[in-house]
Amino acid sequence: MTSLSDTLAIDNLVLKNRIVMPPLANDFSSPDGEVTQKHLDHYQARAAADVGLVIVEHSYVVTEGKMTVKQLGIHNDGLVEGLTKLADTIRSSGAKSAIQLTHAGANTSQSVCGCQPTGPSNIPVPGRDETPRPLETDEIRALVGAYRDAARRAREAGFDAIEIHGAHGFLLCQFASPYTNQRSDQYGGSTENRLRFPLEVIKAVRDETGPGFPLLYRFGASDFLQGGLALDEARKIAPMLVEAGINILDISGGLCGSRPKDLKDLPGFFVPLAQSIKAVVDVPVIAVGGITDPVFANSIVVEEKADLVAVGRALLKNPNWAREALEQLAD
Ligand SMILES: Cc1cc2nc3c(=O)[nH]c(=O)nc-3n(C[C@H](O)[C@H](O)[C@H](O)COP(=O)(O)O)c2cc1C
Repeated sequence: MTSLSDTLAIDNLVLKNRIVMPPLANDFSSPDGEVTQKHLDHYQARAAADVGLVIVEHSYVVTEGKMTVKQLGIHNDGLVEGLTKLADTIRSSGAKSAIQLTHAGANTSQSVCGCQPTGPSNIPVPGRDETPRPLETDEIRALVGAYRDAARRAREAGFDAIEIHGAHGFLLCQFASPYTNQRSDQYGGSTENRLRFPLEVIKAVRDETGPGFPLLYRFGASDFLQGGLALDEARKIAPMLVEAGINILDISGGLCGSRPKDLKDLPGFFVPLAQSIKAVVDVPVIAVGGITDPVFANSIVVEEKADLVAVGRALLKNPNWAREALEQLAD
C-alpha cells in the first residue's frame, strides 16, 4: 500500500514523499520579472519543511504573455542568474524543484502585456473584456520556440523538472478548449487540431531537455463551462500529452475560474478529475483542490485516486503544513 510519505521515482527524479507545492503566483518579482529575495525566503520556508516537490509559480515565456505586472519571468537569458539562486535555494532546502512555463494569451490586458492580448480566436475569456487578436500561424511557430528557449533557461538554472501550464484559461488551455478556440485552420476544430499547439510545445520542450528529464503538464481536464472542454474529451487528450513526452500529469480544471458553485469549497474538489485521468494514463498523476487535512491527503494516495497530492492555500497559510502532516500521519 502506497502512502503520502512514500518516495516516488520518475526517470532520474526521486521525490522523498508525495506532497507537492503547486504553482502559486506571488507577484514578488520586479516589473522585469526578476527573482527577488522575497521569492527565496518564501520557497525556502516551504522546501525546508518537507515538501517533496516544489513547483515554482507561472513564469511568462514572452512579455506579450505576461498576466500581472510583478509576475515572475523566464523570457530572457538575463533572468537565469536569479532563477539559478531560486533553484539552488529549493535544492539546498531539501526539496526537488520544477518551474511552470506559461503564456497568458487572452487572460491579460494591454496595460500589462503592452499589446492587444492574443489568443486562438477573438473570444474573450470569462472575466476579461478585452477582445484578443487571433494568433497567426507564424506567431504560433515562434511561440513554440519561446517555450523551448524558456525550457533551456529552466535547465540552465538547475530546476529538476519543468511544468507546462495548460490549465485555468491560459494560452495552451485556450487552444485546447472549444469555447475559446474557434479557428478553422490546422490549429482549430477537431481534438487533434486544438491540441496541435500544446503538443508542439511539449515536443519542443522535450527536444530541448532530451530524454530522462521530467516534464509535467498542468492539464485543465474540464472547463466546467457550457461549450468548453469536458472530461470525456480530456480522457482522450491525456494519453496524447503523455505520448508527446509528458511524465507527470498535474490535473486541475476551470477556465479563468469557471467552476460549479457546489465544487468551490468541497475538500478535494478536483480529485475526481485526477482519478478519472489516472485511469487512462500510465504516468503519475497529481491531484489538487481544497486539500487541507493530512488524513484526507493520505487517503487520496492510499486509495490510488492519484499518485501525488498538491496542497496550495494551506501551504501558503502554514509553511510547515507538509512537516506537520507527515508527523501527524506517523503518529
Ligand atoms: C494565490 C494563488 C496563486 C496561484 N497561482 C497559480 C499559478 O501560478 N499557476 C497555476 O497553475 N495555478 C495557480 N494557482 C492555483 C493553485 O496551484 C491550486 O491549483 C489552487 O489553489 C487549488 O488548490 P488549493 O485548494 O490547495 O489552494 C494559484 C492559486 C492561488 C490561490
